[in-house]
Amino acid sequence: MRPAAGEQTVEGFVRIVEVGPRDGLQNERQPIDVDARVALIERLVDAGVQHIEAASFVSPRWVPQMASSAEVMARLPMRPGVRYSALTPNLHGLEAALASGCQEVAVFGAASESFSQKNINCSIRDSLERFRSVVETARGHGVRVRGYVSCVVGCPYEGPIAPAKVAEVCLQLQEMGCQEISLGDTIGVGTPASVTAMLEACLRHLPAAQLAGHFHDTYGMAVANVAASLAMGLRTFDSSVSGLGGCPYAAGASGNVATEDLVYLLHGQGLRTGIDLDQLVAVSDWISVVLQRSPGSRVTRALLARSLPN
Ligand code: HMG
Ligand code: MG
Repeated sequence: MRPAAGEQTVEGFVRIVEVGPRDGLQNERQPIDVDARVALIERLVDAGVQHIEAASFVSPRWVPQMASSAEVMARLPMRPGVRYSALTPNLHGLEAALASGCQEVAVFGAASESFSQKNINCSIRDSLERFRSVVETARGHGVRVRGYVSCVVGCPYEGPIAPAKVAEVCLQLQEMGCQEISLGDTIGVGTPASVTAMLEACLRHLPAAQLAGHFHDTYGMAVANVAASLAMGLRTFDSSVSGLGGCPYAAGASGNVATEDLVYLLHGQGLRTGIDLDQLVAVSDWISVVLQRSPGSRVTRALLARSLPN
């Protein structure tokens, strides 16, 4: 059995949390129908992905793309070792997630006051207060809880964010019972230097095994930021097949590091992920056809070009 968040890490194994069906599709101009959302997740599971953020129980007025999340959850294949999680900003969302059989939920806050207001309509302090009951209730149902912190290096409204502020929010999430904290470079402005400074601050309070890196690739730095985080001891990373996505409340932000690019990097470093790169590239190619665009992963483009006849 492969390690899960907060569990003891197995030497040489890196855990990938695929967030494309949520972080990716939440940002599409046209809502993607339930059939395509389910088919994407099924294909990712077939490629060996074991943890997929499949849904988001947020207000459909705020993020219409994630409406019908309960229907998506109900249709997912149950496979041993595969876990599906969902975003739950409040008790309303948590109730829906629990009813749909979610095995893990995530609350999502920020290290930037302005981003918190734009994204979830409340201050950082109020969000943490709200999350407390979500976390308690989820844990009471035996459901694992992840806490996201957005804008860990920069904010689209406030600019650079102090590492100490990020560490403070992480610690509060951990103290209220979040078993894993995912550090979001929401707008992809981080570099190995700024990411390392941020991680140094967080690692003063939390063990590396409880932290995940969530790097958007707006400036092309995401793979470098993963490498810097690996050097700091992190072994869990979020990524999005084909680099899908962005953030509806961060104009201009592009998708997460592409899962294919992340897998290529990790396998190249002699690390294991349990994911079959060729199958993953086929999923990336498939979703790109569905969304009528070329794949957002350089690795996928390179491998597909290699397989073309001369
Ligand atoms: P609000 O308007 O302040 O909420 O929104 P409210 O409690 O005042 O309720 C207003 C209405 O929304 C009510 O309906 C509620 O029932 C309904 P009405 O009585 O008016 O008909 N409502 C809900 N409906 C469905 N599900 C719910 C829910 N809650 C209330 N859970 C709220 C507050 C948090 C709900 C809203 O701001 C929201 O949904 N925001 C979502 C923002 C979002 O999804 N952003 C993208 C995800 S975060 C992200 O991408 C970053 C991340 O990837 C990390 C990174 O990259 O940094 C995670
Ligand atoms: Mg994100």
